[in-house]
Amino acid sequence: MKAKKVTKAIFPVAGLGTRFLPATKSIPKEIMTLVDRPLIQYAIDEARAAGIKEFIFVTSRGKSALEDYFDNAPELESALKKSGKDDLLEILKETNMDSGAIAYIRQNRPLGLGHAVWCARRLVGNEPFAVLLPDDVIAAEKPCLQQMVEAYAETGGNMVAAMEVAPERTSSYGVLDIGEDMGSIVKAKGMVEKPAKGTAPSNLAVIGRYILSPKVMTNLNRMKQGAGGEIQLTDAIAEEVADGNVFGYRFRGQRYDCGSKAGFLQATVAFGLSRPDLRDEFGAYLHDMIALQKAAQ
Ligand code: G1P
Repeated sequence: MKAKKVTKAIFPVAGLGTRFLPATKSIPKEIMTLVDRPLIQYAIDEARAAGIKEFIFVTSRGKSALEDYFDNAPELESALKKSGKDDLLEILKETNMDSGAIAYIRQNRPLGLGHAVWCARRLVGNEPFAVLLPDDVIAAEKPCLQQMVEAYAETGGNMVAAMEVAPERTSSYGVLDIGEDMGSIVKAKGMVEKPAKGTAPSNLAVIGRYILSPKVMTNLNRMKQGAGGEIQLTDAIAEEVADGNVFGYRFRGQRYDCGSKAGFLQATVAFGLSRPDLRDEFGAYLHDMIALQKAAQ
């Protein structure tokens, strides 16, 4: 056991969500729902399962719906109590956060993911911390961050979730340069954010789950601009490879890119089909739709 326990997580949720306009004109992207749960709830549940106790949201203007979502809703709760809807009260409980367990920090300018994470530096202090990007929704038997916490207990250092992607897609991701490949764990000898086509060091891409050392925060202090003129988290992590302290973790599970419309729809179908209360009706509908489409071709 090399590593200190990870109890704090940062959720960068300051993005404008322009890919989902007009919906995101008045609701934060993270409140958009997969079936009946907002994207952010999936990330929070995953963090809780991994032992996270302090939740730090890096927000921006127009995200107050997120704060309300995690607060008590006294009128709603008493109405449900009065009408004896205990099952719904139970569901609401998942959204309640203890006072002091959740903090909101504003990123007042969109300077990149690295900058968003850096905004939480004072709350993180001198401890390892997790970062979860709620756009990346990961369906897994054992939640992804929990898998990583277990692997990290052996490696220490810094760990990023990793997944093989098609070579023509590497320019959309942070990409690992593989030093030593140990199967589920990979030691990185480099990391590049959004490599230009044809220059990626591998097709092992970084997915939005990280366990990072406080050293990465210190690296972010330099505010170095990277890909797209933004302050990149990938670059601050990459500075740690020289010490052999950066690991990729090939998680077991299915990742959905809910930052894209197609990915969001795929996740909606997958989560809809995995729900016992919807599976039959929704499955039959999809089946008929496909049959109709085939017949029309
Ligand atoms: C971010 C990170 C990138 C990572 C990706 C995973 O990029 O900067 O390294 O591969 O998330 O989803 P974004 O998708 O925010 O452009």
